[in-house]
Amino acid sequence: MASAEQIKALLKSHLDGDDSHFYAVAMQVAAHEAKLGHGKLARELRTLIDEAKKKKSLPNLLRPVAISQPKGELSTLLTASFPKLRLSDIVLDRDIHDRLSRIIREQRQIAKLRSHGLVPRKKLLFVGPPGTGKTMSASILAGELGIPLFVVRLEGLITKFMGETAAKLRLIFDALVQTRGVYFFDEFDSIGSQRGHANDVGEIRRVLNSFLQMIEQDDSDSLILAATNHPDILDYALFRRFDDVIRFKLPDKALAIELIKNKMAGFPTSRIIWKNIAARVDDLSFADISMACEDAIKDAIISDRGKVSQKDLAKLLLDRKASLPLKSSYDVRPSV
Ligand SMILES: Nc1ncnc2c1ncn2[C@@H]1O[C@H](COP(=O)(O)OP(=O)(O)O)[C@@H](O)[C@H]1O
Ligand SMILES: [Mg+2]
Repeated sequence: MASAEQIKALLKSHLDGDDSHFYAVAMQVAAHEAKLGHGKLARELRTLIDEAKKKKSLPNLLRPVAISQPKGELSTLLTASFPKLRLSDIVLDRDIHDRLSRIIREQRQIAKLRSHGLVPRKKLLFVGPPGTGKTMSASILAGELGIPLFVVRLEGLITKFMGETAAKLRLIFDALVQTRGVYFFDEFDSIGSQRGHANDVGEIRRVLNSFLQMIEQDDSDSLILAATNHPDILDYALFRRFDDVIRFKLPDKALAIELIKNKMAGFPTSRIIWKNIAARVDDLSFADISMACEDAIKDAIISDRGKVSQKDLAKLLLDRKASLPLKSSYDVRPSV
């Protein structure tokens, strides 16, 4: 029987994703059983270990479990998901829509492009106010391409210890080569602040320099996405490293109405005079409008009204506007 220490070591190495330690402990257990004269059990254990090793050595693409679950230290840096969102789920102005379509098209033909010595667009910077679809677009790229979305957890990445953050960044850029995916650095401004900025600290400058180098050297098939609400505090040098900078905006009236119609498509409404609704959408983001629509539908369901009226919708849009932070507060936030 395995000792308590061995069981603990097995569990810990499994949790850490440390396969070689896991196999080493399992082999110790098998050897221990053999010594005790439990030959059959020892043989069974060794066979199991051999089978597990064989499975693990399959090429990366055949191991969906390994892809979806970052292991060891990576698990503190990346959160994986498999979004199902498609481009048709989002409401965007023509220009942004076309840019995203182009990225998807190039990525789908990655082998063809590479065979001609060309590299598809893959390093993207999304800038724009909150609630305009930056995170949603990251999910859509992953959804359209059928690859995982890895959101970089900045709180795990940035530490107060010199050098440690750059080493962690290295781990992410190594993972990016091993597992094709969309790697999303959200709230990128917290590492991308201007070098030499008055508030800047040495560590952030160092991290930014490593990031610049790694992004420059990257030749993987993954997409690197960075998003920020504060483009003004990003170092100019960063913009040049990206293949495309996509500027997300608040919706104009036409897009706002298109979004409301989309959101309401599955639920009955009373007759709506759209120009009256259009008068209520100024300053609201796509996210604000989506939430107002969802609230209107929820209210109608809860109170058994069966449909959403123009009046309900107008009131909820107004409520959203009342709860907005002071205008433009998102672009005057001081840098870190
Ligand atoms: N352009 C859009 N079209 C449709 N829905 C949107 C759009 N932008 C935002 N939303 C809605 O608002 C939510 C939050 O948006 P998100 O993509 O997280 O904004 P950002 O990352 O720009 O702050 C989304 O999950 C979606 O429901
Ligand atoms: Mg976001």
